[in-house]
Amino acid sequence: MQQLSLFDDMDFAKPAATPSEQDEIRTLRKELEDANYRYYVLSAPTISDREFDEKMHRLEALEAMHPEMADPNSPTQHVGSDIVPSGNGQWTIDNGQLDNGQLDNGQWAVADGFEQVEHRYPMLSLANTYSEEEIRDWLGRVYKGLDGQTSVEIVCELKFDGLSISLWYEQGRLTRAVTRGDGVRGDDVVQNIRTIPTIPQVLPTPLTLEIRGEVLLPWTNFERINRQREADEEPLFANPRNAASGTLKLLNPNTVRERGLDAYLYHIPGNDLPAETHYERLQMAKRLGFQVSDATRVCRSVDEVMDFIHYWDTERKNLPVATDGVVLKVNSLKQQQMLGFTAKTPRWAIAFKFEAEKQCTRLLSVSYQVGRTGAITPVANMEPVQLSGTMVKRATLNNEDFIRSLDLHEGDYVWVEKGGEIIPKITAVEPGKRNADAKPIAFIRTCPECGTPLVRAEGEAAWRCPNDSGCPPQQKGKLEHFVSRKAMNIDGLGAETIDLFYEKGWLRTIADIYDLNPEDIALLPGFGDKSAERLMQGIAASKQVPWSRVLFALGIRFVGETTAKKLAKAYPSIDLLRAATQEQLTEVEDVGEEIAKAIVVHLQNTDNLSVIDRLRAAGLQMESHEQAERLSDSLAGKSIVVSGVFSRHSRDEYKALIEAHGGKNAGSVSAKTAFILAGENMGPAKLEKAEKLGVQIFSEDEFLKMIEGTPPDLPLRGGEVERLRRV
Ligand code: IVH
Repeated sequence: MQQLSLFDDMDFAKPAATPSEQDEIRTLRKELEDANYRYYVLSAPTISDREFDEKMHRLEALEAMHPEMADPNSPTQHVGSDIVPSGNGQWTIDNGQLDNGQLDNGQWAVADGFEQVEHRYPMLSLANTYSEEEIRDWLGRVYKGLDGQTSVEIVCELKFDGLSISLWYEQGRLTRAVTRGDGVRGDDVVQNIRTIPTIPQVLPTPLTLEIRGEVLLPWTNFERINRQREADEEPLFANPRNAASGTLKLLNPNTVRERGLDAYLYHIPGNDLPAETHYERLQMAKRLGFQVSDATRVCRSVDEVMDFIHYWDTERKNLPVATDGVVLKVNSLKQQQMLGFTAKTPRWAIAFKFEAEKQCTRLLSVSYQVGRTGAITPVANMEPVQLSGTMVKRATLNNEDFIRSLDLHEGDYVWVEKGGEIIPKITAVEPGKRNADAKPIAFIRTCPECGTPLVRAEGEAAWRCPNDSGCPPQQKGKLEHFVSRKAMNIDGLGAETIDLFYEKGWLRTIADIYDLNPEDIALLPGFGDKSAERLMQGIAASKQVPWSRVLFALGIRFVGETTAKKLAKAYPSIDLLRAATQEQLTEVEDVGEEIAKAIVVHLQNTDNLSVIDRLRAAGLQMESHEQAERLSDSLAGKSIVVSGVFSRHSRDEYKALIEAHGGKNAGSVSAKTAFILAGENMGPAKLEKAEKLGVQIFSEDEFLKMIEGTPPDLPLRGGEVERLRRV
């Protein structure tokens, strides 16, 4: 049952939570925090909005039933935060694998790029529901909350599916544009917002004003960007909201401008535009040059509200931007004031959210795909159905547990949804339509490609084919990764050519690329001397690719582009890397236990070692030739952790300085850490660990003195450490 937390005053006696309810509350809080983080910070949600809302409603209901379980830190009590934690090591994903620095939507995470600003008025969220019944209940509560005042107008607006922004104007000039952040403080992304043509930089009158709205990426731009990303072999954005959110966090406004963001404004907090009603304020904003949606209507009855909702549920599909519902707001500002707020949401507004489009169709079969890393993904093949403008006939089934949770049987009728994601999802089956003798779908136990028995590691959801050096899709996947643009960038060796050469038996491992024979290639249909020659030139050119990219190209599990760069810096040759122990590897910034173990395992495998030897013999760069300029040895042998936001140099500049003075950058604090170079907002976990281990903390000024050869002042302690603690 969904429940709205519009009024948080419950006065009847309630029984204490049972242990299983306590457990459910704790689990929901954790799941919701995690989902908030993935949605707001990583721009890469893993659960649907609907699932999130249901979990939130369930937690709200449980907390309302058991006030003794109240916790001010519960996700029901605060809005999700899009503030990127700085310098916290592992928080990104690359193709389902851990990588550090690059988000799985292809964006580079920006930890220290924007100034954080406190909101003048907290930036709240909205209560939401998917049920018309609850909209009626809310209207009833609004009337009740207004002490029986009979005349209540409700403004109906579209709920835009982007990210909220607060624009600040001083004397008519745009000065700041602050993201929601954690609702109390957000990032000032004004340079990026200035690229939006519909946002005025200067108002016709010199007003000081704050106005809020939604930043969006129109559908056409979203599709154009994804087409480009596909061509560039970059991961696709799941939906326009994620694309807009990733775009707003970019540091280069020119890239932001090319992406083509847009914005609709819908809320003026405070009293900057004096008026009696919300609607009047919107009209004033329009006259000042802001883009305010025309799909805004003042309704005077429940029926008018419902008409608006029904009309836009279908009509929204013709809009240039994504919407996910309708927002209802009490029009009179005086009445809004009377109704007030809960901890998280105004009582004078509610969002009605549209259901994702869904269709019922028949499951024809389940097939299994083998990825580059050997992970098996089950895929449902269905009778084709029309969904959100496209014909859908396949949907991912994720893994064995997902199939089991659906209780999927052969020939089942299934509900398919295309929510926020590009890939359609099966959300439920229709057991009533099932044949009596239908068998449950049994997950395969051997690899569909090479027949090897599958394995499932403890704690992992995926079954894997362990035959990584002999299973065709794994071999081809490794070859494709090796030649890709960010790895060896071998022109003329795309997926189709790899397939062809594989069928011919010429390619099995990445080392075989360097034994290809141009005369054989020239004889293939569609090739010829010229294209064979071009391909050979591409292969020859790859021998100049630097060590860090060769390391990335080797395809070691979890070693993404960024990790490879950091590893290559710390270990400037394959021999040094091979000699490193798992423990030593974890000293490299961003390399945790799991990554270190994967590296050691890869470099101990004899098949892999023979491939590496052949690559070296072919002339690939197995060591670094880049020599960073050495300025001094003042930090020689010192392992240093850099954390926080700095004012005199960027974090990367400090890291370069450490290396230039002979020191080593480490990602996590350990007993071996010589000291921490700390800026503002240093991560609390690092601070705690440093205090526990007695590791010294220096400010940037002290550090700069140190490398100039002056002994530092006493390291920071007590109150000063407190100052650095994140608020
Ligand atoms: S009003 C105090 N109006 O939905 C209330 N919000 O789920 C301020 N949103 O954080 C918000 N369209 O980012 C409002 N017409 C609209 C909206 C809208 C989209 C977003 C906004 C808000 C979120 C809540």
